[in-house]
Amino acid sequence: MDFIGTKLFLFLLIIAIFGSFGVYASFEPPLADTPEIANSETTLAVSLSRKSEDFKPVDNMHHFMEYVYEPTYNQLKKNVSTEPTAKEIWSKIKSGAMILAESSTLLAQRAPDKGDKDLWISSSLLVHQHGSKLFTASRQKDYEAVKKSFAAMSEGCKKCHQAFRK
Ligand code: HEC
Repeated sequence: MDFIGTKLFLFLLIIAIFGSFGVYASFEPPLADTPEIANSETTLAVSLSRKSEDFKPVDNMHHFMEYVYEPTYNQLKKNVSTEPTAKEIWSKIKSGAMILAESSTLLAQRAPDKGDKDLWISSSLLVHQHGSKLFTASRQKDYEAVKKSFAAMSEGCKKCHQAFRK
């Protein structure tokens, strides 16, 4: 090997050695293999695989009515009885309206085995739709609409009770 050939050989050898270091250094495990991330991904996968059946009622319908609907409704009834002036009363009306409207989704899913299931769902829907209107009306501080939607929502309560409350 002549002098130039030896230099070239050494040069290539150095590149090869440092190059392989580079490859080694860049060989990090993919992100998902690191324990923390793998764990959080597993947790996410597990929670996504949960079915809606896993969300069971906390207790029976009697207690749902007694602890969710009744106190919320009674407060609401009081707060809509005269036209509110205070901001905090409007907030309370919005809160009650939203609690009843949103929880009617749960109510609709909990029809008893016996009785007219369609009626159960349609009266839950009245609470949902007019509760939503009540929420919007109270955001707009539209007292006439508040009274109207509160009365219409109460018809939903009555309709279901006539058929299902003994
Ligand atoms: C889809 C059906 C349905 C709708 C809608 C409904 N309820 Fe009820 N409610 C029931 C049933 C069923 C019971 C009887 C539960 C029991 O005692 O087993 C009941 C019972 C009650 C009770 C008596 C609870 C107690 O402690 O004895 C109150 C108060 C009540 N509901 C309030 C309301 C209000 C207020 C609304 C409307 C905002 C409403 N409910 C809408 C089905 C419904």
